[in-house]
Amino acid sequence: MNAFLCTDNLCRHFGGVMATNRLCIEFEKTGLRSIIGPNGAGKTTFINIITGRIPASSGKVHFQGAEITNKPTHELVKLGICRTFQITSIFNNLTVFENVRIAKQANSGGSLRIFSTKKSLKKVACDTWVILERLGLKDLAGLPAKNMSYGDQRILEVAIALAGDPEILFLDEPTAGMSPAETKHISDLIKGLSKEISIVLVEHDMDMVMRISDKITVLHYGSIIAEGAPEEIRTNQLVREAYLGKDT
Ligand SMILES: Nc1ncnc2c1ncn2[C@@H]1O[C@H](COP(=O)(O)OP(=O)(O)OP(=O)(O)O)[C@@H](O)[C@H]1O
Ligand SMILES: [Mg+2]
Repeated sequence: MNAFLCTDNLCRHFGGVMATNRLCIEFEKTGLRSIIGPNGAGKTTFINIITGRIPASSGKVHFQGAEITNKPTHELVKLGICRTFQITSIFNNLTVFENVRIAKQANSGGSLRIFSTKKSLKKVACDTWVILERLGLKDLAGLPAKNMSYGDQRILEVAIALAGDPEILFLDEPTAGMSPAETKHISDLIKGLSKEISIVLVEHDMDMVMRISDKITVLHYGSIIAEGAPEEIRTNQLVREAYLGKDT
């Protein structure tokens, strides 16, 4: 088990549907891995298992040599395994700054303490500014999240996930519903983050996936049908059939 994070024959079924079928995938310490596949291929289910949202039916997940299968989300976040969701999940009435600060505070273990020290609050605020700066949200800090553009809201979700200090970050369709310009902007940010941490991207926008991925894994009916560099995936016949039907 030398991989940074790896799954070993990971399975999850819903009744008779094998949503995740014996998946063995290895993720590296940095870089950008995309997971693609047609609707219902099992991409979100796979992420949900690794990040502790739903239990596996069988199989294992290892992170930095230790087994972490079916651990609760808050324990995984402490280990550095974080995610964003397919559906927007921010506090609309709070400002951009407050959204990130609350996440940072929760992850610093300070949210339940009534008498947080001045020093620790200062550190939380400082870390929040660093994240906002990194994602180009600094100028929007005082804006209620509901007044942001849709594209910026999705970037705020990434900022909230970064508040967990992730070592590996799972992003589930971060560009869903974005304009081409917004997509280009967030994909550049994601690519930048992947130089420092491991990014796992679930995405339907093929141009983006081909442009920024280091490696791509293709799922179909819960199983891997192809894995490799973008050029290999682009020309893979099984992948074309999965997306476009057998006659292509
Ligand atoms: N909670 C659930 N209960 C029953 N079936 C489910 C549940 N979650 C997922 N499934 C089924 O598992 C399969 C995989 O679904 P999943 O959401 O993981 O696919 P996906 O690749 O993320 O699809 P999409 O691209 O549409 O987001 C589908 O057949 C789906 O209907
Ligand atoms: Mg999904």
